[in-house]
Amino acid sequence: MEKVLLKNTDNPDSADISEYRKAGGYRSLAKAVQMEPRDIVEEVKKSGIRGRGGAGFPTAMKWNFAMADPKFPKYLICNADEGEPGTFKDRPILEKNPHLLIEGMVISGYALGAEYGYIYLRGEYPAAKDILEAAIEQAYREKFLGDDILGKGIRFRLSVHQGAGAYICGEETALIESIEGRKGQPRTKPPFPVNVGAWSMPTIVNNVETLANIPYIVEIGGEAYSAIGSSDCPGPKLYCVSGFVEKPGVYELPMGTSLRDIIYKHAGGIKNNGKLKAVIPGGISTPVLPADGIDCAMDFVAMPKAGSMLGSGAVIVMDESVCMVRVTYRAMKFFEHESCGKCTPCREGTDWLRKILERIEHGKGREGDIELLSDVAGVMSGRTFCPLGDGAAGVVTGMIRHFRNEFEEHIRDKQCKFRN
Ligand SMILES: Cc1cc2nc3c(=O)[nH]c(=O)nc-3n(C[C@H](O)[C@H](O)[C@H](O)COP(=O)(O)O)c2cc1C
Ligand code: SF4
Repeated sequence: MEKVLLKNTDNPDSADISEYRKAGGYRSLAKAVQMEPRDIVEEVKKSGIRGRGGAGFPTAMKWNFAMADPKFPKYLICNADEGEPGTFKDRPILEKNPHLLIEGMVISGYALGAEYGYIYLRGEYPAAKDILEAAIEQAYREKFLGDDILGKGIRFRLSVHQGAGAYICGEETALIESIEGRKGQPRTKPPFPVNVGAWSMPTIVNNVETLANIPYIVEIGGEAYSAIGSSDCPGPKLYCVSGFVEKPGVYELPMGTSLRDIIYKHAGGIKNNGKLKAVIPGGISTPVLPADGIDCAMDFVAMPKAGSMLGSGAVIVMDESVCMVRVTYRAMKFFEHESCGKCTPCREGTDWLRKILERIEHGKGREGDIELLSDVAGVMSGRTFCPLGDGAAGVVTGMIRHFRNEFEEHIRDKQCKFRN
């Protein structure tokens, strides 16, 4: 498959506008401004693309909701918060292909009738901030941004807004709160941001990778795009692989590539000829899969059937030296720290889960602790205000489902056999 999202990124100057244009950049925008906005949305619909931010929501459906709302101005926000542990797939786009994202945002803004765009950037990506701002300046200079784009009287203004390091600000309504200058906490849905978003106006929030796909959809047409990868959720997909593999990194592959192929064919297999123990397939909030559960297509439809989720496509690989109790404990420390505190089941539940996991990992586990963990996770599940709490509960449930024996051993032997 030809590279779309990582096209030309081997070129050390790929972030420069002249290099991007030499490789065919901004041609899709030139094509798009000759089209009616509705026709662009129609192509996006035909493409079948689903949002790459984690939930897999059909992009055209979201866009149609926003378009149906007559309120003005409308805002387009690119979610570049990338805070899910294990996830670094948007980073190469932001740092090496910023004009692809800008082109995607200008086309999307034109299609949606949004004249203002923001890139909400992860606080821990300072290099990306400088690169994006330089690229935005270049795009203004060459009239790909501004009040008269390509001489067509189209307006789209774009700026970068940097977050301050809170995972919850990746959730679209907390992100909007943060952009408005408030503490990042999720809002009640409905109303959804497409109707009542930033400054109460219709706001379309899309992930970096989603928006970076738009120029290609315009270039080859929705129908041709829909033939790439899985029929249920087509297109190219960035999978980022970390942990105990020979070649960790970001791989652009057709959506629906099997988890086994991602690990063994592309990421070089298990490090030092080790043996695979478990995989967290879509970022830390997605349920773990055991070694014999990796023959599944990595897409939004097949993964739930395999017992997990595609999430952000962040594949975390663990070999037999890894203690699964410790992994669960470390994950829960993260969730406890990042819980925004707005709702009780998550605020208290993550704290309880972390405390119980901590004592099990440190050889102080008690009889009945596994049941207590399941109980607390069960009470949280489906009762938290946003998916962060649900994700935290799901991590514990998944780990106990597949690795209960390790929890039992820790409690029985009063130690962790994986510690040196
Ligand atoms: C706790 C939490 C963190 C999230 N973090 C991100 C993120 O870093 N980037 C992202 O694109 N979406 C993230 N999301 C999903 C967004 O709320 C939203 O669904 C997404 O930006 C929509 O874009 P898409 O339709 O293009 O996928 C997160 C959701 C939750 C609940
Ligand atoms: S689930 Fe957690 S992060 Fe989400 S609103 Fe409740 S406390 Fe905040």
